[in-house]
Amino acid sequence: MKILFLNGPNLNMLGEREESLYGQLTLSEINSLIQKKADKMNIQVDFFQSNEEGKIVSRIQESSGLVDYIVINPAAFTHTSIAIRDALLAVKARFIEVHLSNIFSREDFRQNSYVSSIALGVISGFGHQGYLMALDALSDINK
Ligand code: DQA
Repeated sequence: MKILFLNGPNLNMLGEREESLYGQLTLSEINSLIQKKADKMNIQVDFFQSNEEGKIVSRIQESSGLVDYIVINPAAFTHTSIAIRDALLAVKARFIEVHLSNIFSREDFRQNSYVSSIALGVISGFGHQGYLMALDALSDINK
């Protein structure tokens, strides 16, 4: 099984960005934790982060047929991007949406996600553990 972990804008600044909301780990520290867990579970993982919507759209398109699942934190694009939703639909991606913070307890403009309604599920509010939870969930679903 192969899973692509996709992260959107400003998540390259984890560790120094609003730590009380997003935690102290950097994205590369989080990705190492995912890699370690995936190795133990015999799951192949790949990682991509971009601050640019078009690059995320292209990476989703390129993943078609090459990965079984996507775990995506679209970050601010969650609340704005019809293009990312359309890309996920175009490749019939089976994916989990992850957010470090609980978007439902935050500002009104974060309450809408353009991707939740087409996701396998949404994990929001558990910090970096959310990515590891998604790994467990996908390994279970894939059995
Ligand atoms: C986020 C929540 C978004 O609203 C925000 O724009 C982010 C991060 C999260 O992981 O909690 O950049 O996706």
